[in-house]
Amino acid sequence: MGKEEGKRRRTVYLDNAATTPVLDEVLEEMLPYMSSRYGNPSSLHGIGRDAKTALDKARERISSALSIHDNIIFTSGATEANNLAIKGFAYRKLRDGFNRDDVMVVVSSIEHESVLEPCKALAREGFNVSYLPVDRYGMAKPESLEQTLSSSRHRGGVLVSVMLANNEVGTLQRLKEMVEIAHRYGALVHSDAAQAIGKVKVDAGALAVDMLTISAHKVYGPKGVGALCIGKDVRLEPILHGGGHEYGLRSGTQNVPGIVGLGKVAELVPRFIALYQGRVRQLRDRLIKGLLEIPYTRLNGHPEERLPNNAHISFLGVNGEDLIIKLDEYGIAVSTGSACSTLKQKESHVLRAMGLSREEINGSLRLTLGIQNDEQDVDYTLEVMAMVVKELRRISPYSKYRL
Ligand SMILES: Cc1ncc(COP(=O)(O)O)c(C=O)c1O
Repeated sequence: MGKEEGKRRRTVYLDNAATTPVLDEVLEEMLPYMSSRYGNPSSLHGIGRDAKTALDKARERISSALSIHDNIIFTSGATEANNLAIKGFAYRKLRDGFNRDDVMVVVSSIEHESVLEPCKALAREGFNVSYLPVDRYGMAKPESLEQTLSSSRHRGGVLVSVMLANNEVGTLQRLKEMVEIAHRYGALVHSDAAQAIGKVKVDAGALAVDMLTISAHKVYGPKGVGALCIGKDVRLEPILHGGGHEYGLRSGTQNVPGIVGLGKVAELVPRFIALYQGRVRQLRDRLIKGLLEIPYTRLNGHPEERLPNNAHISFLGVNGEDLIIKLDEYGIAVSTGSACSTLKQKESHVLRAMGLSREEINGSLRLTLGIQNDEQDVDYTLEVMAMVVKELRRISPYSKYRL
């Protein structure tokens, strides 16, 4: 037995905010659409109509799960949906005859990169982009939105984009209040709900958002499929041009098996919410309590207004990446933040916006539970973490944390 196998007593996946395994019942519904039911939904014959029926069913399931009565545009995931919402809004204004300077996009400073990067691209082109600050808990204040909107006039229109739940620290935003403010100023609101779906109740109708982004792979569905739900009065410019699929807003033959998977996930949303708000929340609370018993640790994000599966902790005097590598040797999979930012190896913009110190950022770790985790996973993680943190602190130059 190798050295690593010797340490690994079980495999514990605690990175469910990065992605989740596809559930058997989701896969089962998808499989026929990869083989026997292979039609192109745009074809007029029966085999094509069969695929079209599958898309319609997925749309119905999403509409009913999220109380959406608007258009659902299938995309390759949340990244594309966010790009379509933001760039589609801005470019449509150009087509309507406005100048770039007439248009503004307002986003929270802790949005996912798939919102922030299109905004940066628009700013480079001359559109106005404004960033809302967040507090120590990662929450944007509705008052700062009011301030931004009341002090600016953009005759082409304003789009506000604020996520429902943050992917790093799990903080839930006061979205309903923000929507009310935005609408008072005639602005539209988009929300990235990729992390929220299946964990907290998302009622797009009650929230009155104009656009909502969802993704399948964060909730036991396949990767590479998501949707942008858009209100009937919202006008967007497509960012992918071609055959005019998806109401002319997203050309390209639809990913039928993926969309069937997304539809199945939507149908399972009430079951997921019950599990996350019940058993998963209890496990997460046990995990947080145990982790905070390790000396010099802090919980990041809002203590209550947070996703039920998220534990985000700073271990002072320890490097988060070192922790990941050590935990991996014991079969425990966690992350320092969003999977996307690890590609860029940069400090988390979310933790920076929250005002965390360099040391708190360096020592931070995100542990996100899923419906497949159990008490043994939590207890094993707590046991290994206490040992590993102690060991890393022993060899750390920050001698004040050696215990
Ligand atoms: C909040 C949020 N938005 C967008 C994305 C991107 O999702 P996708 O992988 O479906 O493009 C993610 C996933 O990393 C996310 O957590």
